[in-house]
This record gives sequence, structure tokens and C-alpha cells, in this order.
Amino acid sequence: MISPFLVLAIGTCLTNSLVPEKEKDPNYWRTQAQLTLKNALELQKLNTNVAKNVILFLGDGMGVSTVTAARILKGQLHHEPGEETRLEMDKFPFVALSKTYNTNAQVPDSAGTATAYLCGVKANEGTVGVSAATERTRCNTTRGNEVTSILRWAKEAGKSAGIVTTTRVNHATPSAAYAHSADRDWYSDNEMPREALDQGCKDIAYQLMHNIKDIDVIMGGGRKYMFPKNKTDVEYRMDEKAGGTRLDGLNLVDIWKSFKPKEKHSYFVWNRTELLSLNPDGVDYLLGLFEPGDMQYELNRNNVTDPSLSEMVGVAIKILKKNPKGFFLLVEGGRIDHGHHEGKAKQALHEAVEMDRAIGRAGAMTSLEDTLTVVTADHSHVFTFGGYTPRGNSIFGLAPMVSDTDKKPFTAILYGNGPGYKVVDGERENVSMVDYAHNNYQAQSAVPLRHETHGGEDVAVFAKGPMAHLLHGVHEQNYIPHVMAYAACIGANLDHCARAAAAGSPTPGPLLLLLALLPLGTLF
Ligand SMILES: *[C@@H]1O[C@H](CO)[C@@H](O)[C@H](O)[C@H]1NC(C)=O
Ligand SMILES: *[C@@H]1O[C@H](CO)[C@@H](O)[C@H](O)[C@H]1NC(C)=O
Ligand SMILES: *[C@@H]1O[C@H](CO)[C@@H](O)[C@H](O)[C@H]1NC(C)=O
Ligand SMILES: *[C@@H]1O[C@H](CO)[C@@H](O)[C@H](O)[C@H]1NC(C)=O
Ligand SMILES: *[C@@H]1O[C@H](CO)[C@@H](O)[C@H](O)[C@H]1NC(C)=O
Ligand SMILES: [Zn+2]
Repeated sequence: MISPFLVLAIGTCLTNSLVPEKEKDPNYWRTQAQLTLKNALELQKLNTNVAKNVILFLGDGMGVSTVTAARILKGQLHHEPGEETRLEMDKFPFVALSKTYNTNAQVPDSAGTATAYLCGVKANEGTVGVSAATERTRCNTTRGNEVTSILRWAKEAGKSAGIVTTTRVNHATPSAAYAHSADRDWYSDNEMPREALDQGCKDIAYQLMHNIKDIDVIMGGGRKYMFPKNKTDVEYRMDEKAGGTRLDGLNLVDIWKSFKPKEKHSYFVWNRTELLSLNPDGVDYLLGLFEPGDMQYELNRNNVTDPSLSEMVGVAIKILKKNPKGFFLLVEGGRIDHGHHEGKAKQALHEAVEMDRAIGRAGAMTSLEDTLTVVTADHSHVFTFGGYTPRGNSIFGLAPMVSDTDKKPFTAILYGNGPGYKVVDGERENVSMVDYAHNNYQAQSAVPLRHETHGGEDVAVFAKGPMAHLLHGVHEQNYIPHVMAYAACIGANLDHCARAAAAGSPTPGPLLLLLALLPLGTLF
């Protein structure tokens, strides 16, 4: 049955003039589909190479509705209708669904999920780098329950490793790559309860510098957690809240430097100018901390002091690529989640578009032959868009009709809950009277909450490169690092590589080539 809304919409708005001319020709659709079919048939030739490099892009809170809305936004930023646009991630040949629940939560958080997609083990909400035997905030349930991440497996295999995020580098997502903590909020000792300190637990910033001492590239925010409490911030000298937080008096940037071999070139940078002036060929280790806390939203970014996510990714890959054994890189578009929590869909979607640019940048710098790239989210949000909007409607625009119940207009984008709930004179606010296209407009929600919540449905996993076809159905989230490790021949199951070598790998490794070229005598 057709809804009365649809009839109204078709009658009033969805005129044929909205249809791009070429789309009126059935051959346009047939040719496009035939080309897609041809490409799909090519996929029968599976890429079973060994992944020298693995890149994981994690859009925090980037549910499927966010991906679709970001796609439309990206097209509209290029003055196109938007629906037909292809994101960089849309071009990946393999897609799976990931079941995101935590061991103790139907709707998960970023900490338990990060443990799943980085360490391969599902865990409790709020915990990082520990199994479900660890209870949140209970320091003394940590020991013996630590689980290691694919970043560590990569380092142990002699690869380089990097972490790039738009949040604090000790935030939930990146921290599961290197820390083991009963509580994601233990950013520095200042945020920890006395009891946890007394029981010997270490804060996450401390663990970043001490657990895996040779992470090659670390970039993001979180400067204040690295410095003693009385230290003023290098950028915001007048702002006391931006200053150091540490009670133990440690300067973790100095400690980071002290752990690096003297003959290596280690750089700490805190602004974009300095970052982009580095010659990556001469950089062995890089620590970039661009804000005291999280980095600014892309829409608000200071383009002198703060690099974009794609700029950070570009520099990271140039440095990591120098290792002949390859690298593992975790990239987090971390503030998609924050935009949604604040009900600010425009901020969230611009963050997602920027992460897509970073995916494009990484794709241009690497090869499908030797690099497995995976794009996914930790969890979704209660973010939605609908309302029978016509083709090319601004993604931040109104539905084409008013509500048949309260007679007021409504935006296409809405939240199930969050801070955008608003009643004026006992009625839903009339959005025609507000600037709903503003960067910080908070879309209406059904239930008032200071922070909009995560969503519980599955998220997408996009994959390309060696063994990408193993990401293909509906899977538990903790399956992801098992695939990445298998593809790269690191971590637990190395037999894939042993078998590939025995069977004569389709592309002989550089060592085999070298041996083949050596005169026999030199071998004996
Ligand atoms: C662990 O710490 C809790 C307090 O958080 C305490 O009640 C409990 O007895 C401790 N357990 C052990 C085995 O030390
Ligand atoms: C900061 O604190 C440390 C020890 O906590 C102390 O040694 C140092 O003198 C203090 N610096 C300033 C500027 O107060
Ligand atoms: C960036 O950092 C460098 C090194 O501390 C400093 O010399 C430079 O003035 C900073 N640039 C900006 C724009 O703050
Ligand atoms: C930086 O931002 C300023 C003002 O926001 C703008 O005028 C300028 O073009 C930007 N520069 C770059 C390199 O993006
Ligand atoms: C909503 O606001 C618009 C613009 O001021 C006005 O034209 C319209 O009548 C209002 N609708 C209701 C139901 O108040
Ligand atoms: Zn969140």
C-alpha cells in the first residue's frame, strides 16, 4: 500500500525535472550495471597474496545510515544531487556485516568493540585490551586477562606500526591497540580512582609510551595527559584546563624520546606547519599531538595549527612505507561519534567525509597487490534520515511535506534520542523558524537526552586487497583482526604463509627473486 505521504510528495515535489537527463535513458542504467557485472566477474580471481601492509580505517559511530548520508553530502559538496556519488569506501569490492554487541551489552561502546576488532576477543563495555573476565573499573580483575592486538602482532613480525586518530591518542579506539585497562576513562593518573592506583594499575597515556615502546607513528590529540599537572600547554598558554594533568610528575614526551635508539630520528610535533615541513624520509619515529584533548571538528579546524585526518594519514604512510617488511596502520575518524552524541549531524557527516578523503589518500599511496585495507565502524548511532525527500534534496534539508499530525515541517535527519528534543509552548518546535543548516544545529529527537546514544544494529565492513574476500557475510566483530592477521601472516595462524611459500607463491617475494639472481657460488 502506498502511504498518503508518498502520494502527497509525488503530487507536489517529485517532478521529473529532478531526474538527471542521462538517467532517463534506460541504456544508462543497463550499461552501468553491465560494467559492474563485468567487474564482479573479475572477482572470481581471488587475491590470495600475502598482505605486506594492513590498514584499518575505523569510523567511530559510522553506522550504515551515516555512510549513506555522508555519500550524499560528498556529492552535494561537488554540486551533484549526491545519491549516485561513490564514496572511496563504496569502491571496495567486498562488504560484510559486523555484529557489534559487547559481552555484557546489547548496544556496545567504543572500548569493548575496539578490543574485538583489534585484539580478536569480545569484551565488556568500557574495557580495553582485556578479556570479558575483566570488569569495568575493577583494577584487580585486569592481571592475567590481558589480550594483545594486531598492532603488537605486526611489531613482533618486524613490521612498522602507526596510530592516527582525530580523538585523544589515549581514547577508547586507539587504546585497545596498546593498553590493557579495566576502564577506558583512565586517560592519565589524574582520572583514576585512588584504589586503582594503589592496586598498581597504570593510566592509558603511561601505557601508550611503555607497553610497546617502538610504535613508529602516533598522531592525534591528547597532549595534556602527557605532561605534569603544573605544566602550561605549548599552544594554549593562558588556558589552565589545557595544561598537563599528570599527578606523577612524568613528562611522557621526554620518556617517549628516551626509549628511542639514539641513532634514530625521533620527532615530536604539535602543529600542522611543523608536521608538513618534516621530510618523511628522515623520520624514524613520529609523535604528533595537536590538541590538549580531542582534535577540533574538521569544520572548525584551524588550518595552520591542526592537520586534517587525510594529511596525517599521508605523512604516516610515507614514514611507515619505508619498512621493507611492511606496516600496520590504524586510522580512526573518531569524531563522527562525537558529532552524533551532540546531535550535530552536520559535524558528524563532515567528519565522515574527511575520513573518506583519507581512505582515498591511502589508496593512492598503496597497492591492491600487497595492501589489505579494511574500513568499518565500531557501532552505529540512533541517527536516521527519511521523509520521502526528493532526489538531490539537501541532506540537511526539510522533508517535502509537513507532518499530517502537528502540521509542522520536519528535517529529513532525525535522532531517536538526544539533545535536539525541543518543545516550544507545549508543542514540537517549528523548524522553519530555526537555521537547521547551521554547522551546530541539533536535529530533533524523540526522547530528550543530554548525549544521544549509540545504535545497536550491525555495521558494514568494506575490504580490498589480499584476502579481502574473507570479509563476506555476517560476522562477529572480533573476526576482523583474525582475517587481517591471516592475510598478513602475523599473529596466531601462520600456516597460510607456510603453505603459500610451499606451493610457490604466485608473486615470488623479493628474497626469492634475490636468491634466483645470485650466482650459485655465493650460496655455498
Ligand atoms: C579487588 O578489589 C575490590 C575493590 O574494588 C575488592 O572488594 C576485592 O576484594 C579485591 N579482590 C581481590 C581478589 O583482591
Ligand atoms: C612542577 O612540579 C614538579 C614536581 O611535581 C616540580 O619539581 C617543579 O618545580 C614544578 N614546576 C613549576 C613551574 O612549578
Ligand atoms: C609550530 O611548532 C614549532 C615548534 O615548536 C614552532 O616553532 C612554531 O612557531 C609553531 N607554529 C605555529 C603556527 O604555532
Ligand atoms: C585556511 O583558513 C582560512 C580562513 O579560515 C582560509 O582563508 C584559507 O584559505 C585556508 N587555507 C588553506 C590552505 O586551506
Ligand atoms: C512554521 O513556521 C513557518 C515560518 O515562520 C510558518 O509559515 C508556518 O505557518 C509555521 N507552521 C506552524 C504549524 O506553526
Ligand atoms: Zn560514542
